[in-house]
Amino acid sequence: MRFTLSLSAWLMAGLMAMHGSSALAGDSGKAAAPFTPPSEESMPSGPMGDAIRYGHQLTSQTQVYAKKYVGNDLNCTSCHLNGGRTPNAAPWVGIWGVFPEYRTRNAQVNTLQDRVNDCFQRSMNGKPLPVDSKEMNGILAYMWWLSKDVPTGVDVAGRGFKRIKAERAPDTAKGKAIYAEKCSACHGADGQGMKGPEGEYMFPALWGPKSFNIAAGMARLNTAAAFVKANMPLGQGGSLTDQEAYDVAAYFTQQPRPDYAAKKKDWPNGDKPKDARY
Ligand code: HEC
Ligand code: HEC
Repeated sequence: MRFTLSLSAWLMAGLMAMHGSSALAGDSGKAAAPFTPPSEESMPSGPMGDAIRYGHQLTSQTQVYAKKYVGNDLNCTSCHLNGGRTPNAAPWVGIWGVFPEYRTRNAQVNTLQDRVNDCFQRSMNGKPLPVDSKEMNGILAYMWWLSKDVPTGVDVAGRGFKRIKAERAPDTAKGKAIYAEKCSACHGADGQGMKGPEGEYMFPALWGPKSFNIAAGMARLNTAAAFVKANMPLGQGGSLTDQEAYDVAAYFTQQPRPDYAAKKKDWPNGDKPKDARY
């Protein structure tokens, strides 16, 4: 375990970082717009509706519709739950009007296409979509439609993840026990997820070669803990204490996972958050 030595220092630093600069959009402090996903019935017909529906399918069955750009066993909606329509699970409702956005990770103003491709390269451990591809057009059309009732330039309530607080440094041994009791039935004792009888997507991998890579947002302790607290075990969001969410997140984020070669270019201004794994 090459993390053992620096573990407690690293984890304490992560805890401190929670009160420092915010990497999570939901904490921006700006007045939030109400969370208003449009109803399915309001999806238009015609070419615009076709593009929106395609984007919806692609993001919820990424393994089927964008396989050649994906390097693991996840779909976009493995994390952006319910087609990006769950608050505090990095929803896409309202996302259209908040990009372009400056991000410290690359110290640039990022377009929504850049942000989508970030998740392709990191969360999906894959390759960026060509920005003029039909896949990218579909994703943008779907996100535009999800955002149509949210004013431009305003964060929606529930954007990103809701930050939580731990009382003490996370304990990976406790996290391992929580994982065995509350997570392994779906995600597998070995964290590799589970497939259906035809090899189809069922439960996504939390670590190993079929999971998100080391440079993904979900590989960061604070982000993973906030996601788990609000959303896991699936259908029982909010059932873990903040401390339990931290303990189990500390356990699974540190398991082996794919590397990301371009990670050395991240945070060029030296403002790397303390819970980044590199
Ligand atoms: C392993 C989990 C995971 C998967 C899979 C994933 N994402 Fe993400 N995504 C995240 C996390 C975590 C964030 C927020 C990162 C942060 O702010 O710290 C995010 C942020 C985003 C954002 C910006 C949200 C905002 O409020 O700024 C968009 C857009 C996005 N993802 C699109 C996608 C698309 C499209 C896919 C599929 C190609 C995808 N994501 C797959 C975890 C994931
Ligand atoms: C009842 C089954 C179930 C249980 C129990 C469960 N999950 Fe999940 N989890 C899921 C499913 C299904 C998804 C993907 C959602 C989708 O595809 O709609 C998911 C997604 C995730 C993700 C994001 C995707 C990924 O692969 O990284 C994380 C992280 C996660 N779960 C962590 C946990 C943790 C930690 C626990 C235990 C506290 C837990 N889950 C318990 C079913 C479950």
